[in-house]
Amino acid sequence: MKVSRINIQVLLVVVVGILSISDGIETDKFRAPKLKPRKYLAISCRNHSASITDFGGVGDGKTSNTKAFKAAVEHLSKFANSGGAELVVPAGRWLTGSFNLTSYFTLFLAEGAVILGTEDPSEWPLISVLPSYGRGRDAPGNGSRYSALIYGTNLTDVVVTGNNGTIDGQGQIWWDKFHNDQLNYTRPYMIEILFSDRVQISNLTLLNSPSWFVHPVYSSNIIIKGLRIVAPYNPVSPNTDGIDPDSCTNTLIEDCYIESGDDCVAVKSGWDQYGIAVGMPTTKLLVRRVTCVSPDSAGIALGSEMSGGIQDVRVEDFTAINTQAGVRIKTAIGRGGYVKDVFMRRMVMKTMKYVLWMTGAYGSHPDESFDPKAIPVINNINYIDMVAENVNMTANLAGLAGHPFTGICLSNVAVGMSVKPKKIQWNCTDIEGTAHNVTPQTCSLLPDGNEANAGCHFPTDRLPIEDLPLKLCTHRST
Ligand SMILES: *[C@@H]1O[C@H](CO)[C@@H](O)[C@H](O)[C@H]1NC(C)=O
Ligand SMILES: *[C@@H]1O[C@H](CO)[C@@H](O)[C@H](O)[C@H]1NC(C)=O
Ligand SMILES: *[C@@H]1O[C@H](CO)[C@@H](O)[C@H](O)[C@H]1NC(C)=O
Ligand SMILES: *[C@@H]1O[C@H](CO)[C@@H](O)[C@H](O)[C@H]1NC(C)=O
Ligand SMILES: *[C@@H]1O[C@H](CO)[C@@H](O)[C@H](O)[C@H]1NC(C)=O
Ligand SMILES: *[C@@H]1O[C@H](CO)[C@@H](O)[C@H](O)[C@H]1NC(C)=O
Ligand SMILES: *[C@@H]1O[C@H](CO)[C@@H](O)[C@H](O)[C@H]1NC(C)=O
Ligand SMILES: *[C@@H]1O[C@H](CO)[C@@H](O)[C@H](O)[C@H]1NC(C)=O
Ligand SMILES: *[C@@H]1O[C@H](CO)[C@@H](O)[C@H](O)[C@H]1NC(C)=O
Repeated sequence: MKVSRINIQVLLVVVVGILSISDGIETDKFRAPKLKPRKYLAISCRNHSASITDFGGVGDGKTSNTKAFKAAVEHLSKFANSGGAELVVPAGRWLTGSFNLTSYFTLFLAEGAVILGTEDPSEWPLISVLPSYGRGRDAPGNGSRYSALIYGTNLTDVVVTGNNGTIDGQGQIWWDKFHNDQLNYTRPYMIEILFSDRVQISNLTLLNSPSWFVHPVYSSNIIIKGLRIVAPYNPVSPNTDGIDPDSCTNTLIEDCYIESGDDCVAVKSGWDQYGIAVGMPTTKLLVRRVTCVSPDSAGIALGSEMSGGIQDVRVEDFTAINTQAGVRIKTAIGRGGYVKDVFMRRMVMKTMKYVLWMTGAYGSHPDESFDPKAIPVINNINYIDMVAENVNMTANLAGLAGHPFTGICLSNVAVGMSVKPKKIQWNCTDIEGTAHNVTPQTCSLLPDGNEANAGCHFPTDRLPIEDLPLKLCTHRST
């Protein structure tokens, strides 16, 4: 199965063409929300605005607003051809089940607004499992899984933002089901956007997701910034990854604080034979100015699901405090795919078991039908200008026997030990690479060249997403 990317430009021309011959532009019959005009930065501003209260929403923390959100999105989707629409969620506590986003649409959470994920299981509909995963991660689910709280598929130009409003997934009931082995379908994510182009998620506090927090998948041109993501540490909140760019192209993640029960940023592209069949890599990803706290997991993880390939990942000015690892690459025989051209610089790391960790034998297969000949290729991984302190072991790097991980390059890396560090600081098997100015002394598979290493570099070009202009928008009505 090959999922083809929609040609957005062609689609836009077709949509605009069809709409311009329909009977005129509809006016917004709803009044503008009574809020102070507020400015915010977004990829697009909207010509129409409404409040969730216009659709019967009640912000008392008890009334279900699932129908109000559905009605609001359905109504506001009609403005796609007349400048798009913004749905404002004012201060209050807005309980809801899953709802879907639409195109040319902004969901804006005002200061003091809290969207609460309902604890009523009937308000979490089932949808299809992801084609590149073939099953739910917690349970096979017969092809079904729970929808994310905020879900969007096949969209163009969608923004979820606010003045630091909050989305609280109230994940405890889901974490309990996970721990008690009571899940027939895999848990919901908090925000999931599929097959979409031009996506922004920004200026929000996200709490207690049932599972992963932010999951853009099969999408392009994505900006994720200014998020504060918090869940209890593992084992209380299992698999609460912060941000998981998955089979996405041209993604910017910046200025986020993430404290959770799993990897803070986990770069993915599908699982074994399902990911290989879909064949959509994650490419052109930039992660910068992110702070991570996650004692059981990694600051940045690549994989373990990477079967569609991961290429051109740039990470800079990343801080990891009290994590298990700083950077982790995890894969397995059967994954196929690749992780290549990864560039990380100016990471600051404090208190962890491993600074650098690579695992070729991660295991974890969707089913027994994975291809044992599907060998992942790991190549050209650069770690530049890094400092770490209070570390037990500098690096645990294990490639695959007969299929070494190659092109590992370290330059200017200084690791300071904990009070009781491991005797072995570098544990290297089935890897190849070079080092320059690295302390403590590297393993023999990463000989220290003691001279500038031409292969160890950070790209000098910019990713297209860095130049996508943000506009200064205000709440407005027509
Ligand atoms: C949206 O509003 C702007 C500013 O008022 C206007 O220039 C533009 O034509 C409108 N867009 C559409 C599609 O109606
Ligand atoms: C959201 O859209 C998907 C795909 O069209 C659909 O399967 C799902 O039922 C919708 N969810 C809700 C809550 O309406
Ligand atoms: C969304 O787009 C994908 C890829 O083009 C397509 O396979 C899928 O059927 C579309 N889904 C919907 C609900 O339109
Ligand atoms: C957002 O709100 C939380 C409290 O809900 C606060 O801790 C945090 O500092 C705020 N972030 C910003 C950028 O204002
Ligand atoms: C899971 O499925 C089993 C068997 O169909 C059923 O007895 C159980 O109630 C289901 N559990 C949940 C949490 O829905
Ligand atoms: C999956 O389908 C099988 C066979 O139809 C059925 O026995 C089982 O209960 C189903 N499980 C779930 C979680 O729906
Ligand atoms: C969004 O967050 C950025 C910092 O990430 C801040 O500069 C900006 O003022 C915030 N915008 C709003 C509308 O709160
Ligand atoms: C580092 O080693 C010490 C001593 O064995 C141990 O107590 C501590 O938990 C380890 N730290 C991490 C982050 O694994
Ligand atoms: C070193 O790596 C090997 C191979 O992956 C592993 O078996 C061993 O436990 C590691 N040793 C340490 C001290 O981590």
